[in-house]
Amino acid sequence: MPDRIVITAATGNIGSKLAEILLSKGKRIKVIGRDDKKLEAFKMKGADVYEGNAEKASDMKRAFMGGSALFALIPPNYAATDPRAYQNKVGQAYADAIAEAGIKEVVNLSSVGAHLSEGNGLIAGLYDQEQRLNSMRGVSVVHLRPGYFMENLFWNMDSIRKSGIAGSPLKGDVALPMIATRDIASIAAVQFLVGVEGKSVQELMGQRDLTLNEATAAIGKAIGKPDLKYVQFPYADAEKSMVGMGMSLESAQLTNEMNKGFNEGIIKPSTGRKPENTTMTSIEEFAQHFAEIYKKGG
Ligand SMILES: NC(=O)c1ccc[n+]([C@@H]2O[C@H](COP(=O)([O-])OP(=O)(O)OC[C@H]3O[C@@H](n4cnc5c(N)ncnc54)[C@H](OP(=O)(O)O)[C@@H]3O)[C@@H](O)[C@H]2O)c1
Repeated sequence: MPDRIVITAATGNIGSKLAEILLSKGKRIKVIGRDDKKLEAFKMKGADVYEGNAEKASDMKRAFMGGSALFALIPPNYAATDPRAYQNKVGQAYADAIAEAGIKEVVNLSSVGAHLSEGNGLIAGLYDQEQRLNSMRGVSVVHLRPGYFMENLFWNMDSIRKSGIAGSPLKGDVALPMIATRDIASIAAVQFLVGVEGKSVQELMGQRDLTLNEATAAIGKAIGKPDLKYVQFPYADAEKSMVGMGMSLESAQLTNEMNKGFNEGIIKPSTGRKPENTTMTSIEEFAQHFAEIYKKGG
């Protein structure tokens, strides 16, 4: 069992929930983020804190020192003009730091579709990271490959409020494995508690497959807009809007490549649904959480 678990992206969706679970189990953890003020709450609960940038190999070497296990997540950087090069830079920084710190167990956050080296948009960089970690001798790694995050539905909050529309370039009637990030954190925690051995992949498919039409209907019901409809946006319009929100053109194009991959059935789980890859949180539960934030104006 690991002595001290290092958590990257600890203020993010998954990292923050994982840190809470491990602290509640009495585990020693070291949380990493770019601003230690945002990590203060974990410090108060006994976590070690490290402020550093994942793009800087020297920062990650210092951050991982003293750790015996690692939760590795390459943070999204939508401003990157070469997203795969960015992901590889962070991925290599992690690998070098794992080797230098002598970390023996890694839970790597990957994605559904990361068995493909291309044609999967931003997921290709996660394919690279799986290969990089698999090549490390003496390091046990489990690659978690979750499906579409339910939290992505928050991207629609503004447009629901302002124009009563929820949408994206994904087709409304394609069934996706959709998962709440708290379930990913729970599975990651279990991996650390039981111990990581060898090299393996664990796909995480959420409670059930869902289309965006169904997910939007659940959100609409929870927020008191039962007529809320999902709209599929044209790729070109979505690209323009992503760039308008500050994404690099390259990131927007790769996001669309990923959307096409889902729409055309190229990005999908490589195994069928089983109890081991099915998690707890239903869209109806997530929709209640969405509604609480929506009603507070968040
Ligand atoms: N969205 C999906 O449907 C989906 C599906 C499968 C896999 N994924 C993968 O899931 C990952 C995202 O997970 P998440 O939602 O938990 O992440 P997230 O909420 O976006 O959090 C990422 C965290 O990383 C930190 N960060 C950002 N840039 C950093 C840097 N340069 N150095 C150090 N820390 C940095 C940020 O914290 P600070 O600002 O505090 O530093 C942020 O809180 C991505 O790798 C994505 O590919 C996503």
